[in-house]
Parts: sequence; structure tokens; C-alpha cells
Amino acid sequence: AQNNLKSIDVKFPLHVMTVVSGVSGSGKSSLVRDVFYRALLRHYGEGGEMPGTYSRLSGDMDRIHSVEFVDQNPIGKSTRSNPATYLKAFDEIRKLFAEQQGAKQMGFSPSYFSFNSEGGRCEECKGEGTITVEMQFMADIVLECESCHGKRYKQDVLDIEYRGKNISDVLDMTINQAIEFFSEVNGSQEKRIIKRLKPLQDVGLGYIKLGQSSSTLSGGENQRVKLAFFLSNEKQESTLFIFDEPTTGLHFHDINTLLKSFNQLIERGHTVVIIEHNMDIIKCADHVIDMGPEGGKEGGYVVCTGTPEEIAECSASYTGMFLKEKLRSCFKFIEK
Ligand SMILES: Nc1ncnc2c1ncn2[C@@H]1O[C@H](COP(=O)(O)OP(=O)(O)O)[C@@H](O)[C@H]1O
Ligand SMILES: [Mg+2]
Ligand SMILES: [Zn+2]
Repeated sequence: AQNNLKSIDVKFPLHVMTVVSGVSGSGKSSLVRDVFYRALLRHYGEGGEMPGTYSRLSGDMDRIHSVEFVDQNPIGKSTRSNPATYLKAFDEIRKLFAEQQGAKQMGFSPSYFSFNSEGGRCEECKGEGTITVEMQFMADIVLECESCHGKRYKQDVLDIEYRGKNISDVLDMTINQAIEFFSEVNGSQEKRIIKRLKPLQDVGLGYIKLGQSSSTLSGGENQRVKLAFFLSNEKQESTLFIFDEPTTGLHFHDINTLLKSFNQLIERGHTVVIIEHNMDIIKCADHVIDMGPEGGKEGGYVVCTGTPEEIAECSASYTGMFLKEKLRSCFKFIEK
């Protein structure tokens, strides 16, 4: 009964992809985030914010073990975290550099190749590659570090190369380039690196640079880095994943990539619940819960539930109307 919800009962099937649809203000977030997610968190003993108004949560609660809300907030608070550190790929890359002949001779350990701790990093900029100058009446100015020229490391570290590339060159590669580069050699350490990077490519983030600060990623990109992290986690307990409007700002090609990732989660025994009004996602759902019929006071009801085909037959549903058109154009396409 939170916000505009009209004391509704809603069923969420497990181990499939459910989409909660409806016009803006129809009560999707009130239902899924405020009530369902927060009540589940409490149930699994993870505390958090007070759930919205509801009377009872019941079902096969022990079929899943935890719930994750995959939001668009930054993956790390500092400018030092990046997709490669978040997925632990950089740990494996540093190990590879420490194995090189020159590094062994100099006694450089893997931590010497970190820009987060003292040792090999440039101390002038503390491994950031840039110096931020605070200006009193203007925005801060970010300048390239004069000591390392933006390379983030001391010269003796930059002298260590793996197949002609130093650690700074590797951080400057995109995920796609790095996967290609490390695939050229069939070594065990190279395989570990690729295994860590692959999930980022799988969620469509191959164009991002390894060393790109997480503070420069868009909300949708941050959300997909988190998704990649869950995909890289093989031995995970059965989890219920919730995504609030994950397609915001995505190109059609990336929406397809995202759908494949959702599928991977379900194949591993997880459950996916998505709040979304993108028709390409809705038409692929196993189950749709359509909220509405309008936004605000005139919303907060479950208009209809079922497969996309069943929603398309519901005349009271706006989603159904658009879905009917979408499914019809699919058929046309197939007939041609
Ligand atoms: N914190 C709040 N206090 C009062 N009303 C709210 C609050 N949050 C949302 N609402 C109202 O509840 C209704 C449903 O909102 P919401 O669940 O965010 O819809 P949706 O996610 O479908 O866009 C809207 O009319 C909105 O104005
Ligand atoms: Mg919402
Ligand atoms: Zn520097």
C-alpha cells in the first residue's frame, strides 16, 4: 500500500525474467524497490531502509538466498577505482608484470605495479596521473602531472615491459584491445586476465579503457560494471536481482547484449526482476506485471499480468497496446 499502491497483491515467479511495466508514476518503484526489495532485504537479515507499507511477504523464500538491487550509482567513491580493479582483472595484470625478467631482477612485487599504494607509483600525483588545482571562484583545474607526464608510475616501473607494453600502456587499452592483446599468448596468467575481463565485454563495455576512472562512467555504465561483476562470480548462491530501468540511454545493439546477460543470470539459477518501459525488453519477458492504468492517484493497480502475448490482448493496458504493435511488426518481419 506504499504511496499510490491500492493495497494490491502481487506474485513474482522465481528463476525467470519478470518485467514490471507501466506509465511513469504508476507505482513501479513503490512496489518493487520500496516494498518488495526492502521487505526481502529484511527477510534475509540484511537490514537497510524501512520497507514501504505492506502486510505480508510469503512464498518459497528459501529457494533464493539473497537479493541485489543493481542501481546506477558509481562503483567506487574514489577516482582510483576503475572497471579493471572492480573485477580484480588488474590484480592478475600486476602479477604478470611482476613475473617479467626485469621486474624479478629489480625485486618488484605485484604491489609495486599498483597506483593505489606507495612503491612504484608516481608520488607527485599519488598515482593519479593528474594534479587538481583548486580555484577560488572557478571550477577546479585538472592538469597532467609534470613528474610522470600522466603515466602514473615511476620511470623504473615504466621500463618493465611485457611484449613491448608497460603497465601504463596496458591501462590505456580498451577492454576489447586488452582481451585481444593477452589472447595472443596462451599462458596461464594471460588466461586468468582474460577470464576477469571477459564479463565486461559480455555486458557491452568493451569500449571502456582499463584505467578509466569510475567517476567518469555514466549511470548505465556503472550499472553494467556491477552486472559484469555478478556474471564473473561463478559459485554464487541463488540470488534475486532487481534492475530499475536498465536500458536508459542504451542503443538497440546494447539492449540485446544486456538481454543476453540477463539470460546468463537466469541460466545460473538466479531470478531477474526488471522495472522497464522499453518494449524490446518487455516483449522478451517470461512474465509481465503491468501497473497503472495511469500515473499518480489514477495508478497503483495491477492492470494485468502474464506473458507478453497475454498483456498484448489486455485492452485496458497502455503497455498492451504498444506491445500488440511491437509483436505484430515482429511477425511481419518474420513473414518477409
Ligand atoms: N516519497 C513519496 N511520497 C509521496 N508520494 C510519492 C513518493 N514517491 C513516489 N510517490 C508517488 O507515488 C506514485 C508512484 O510513484 P513511483 O512508484 O515512483 O512510480 P514509477 O516508478 O512507476 O514511475 C507517483 O504518483 C508518485 O508521485
Ligand atoms: Mg520509478
Ligand atoms: Zn605523476
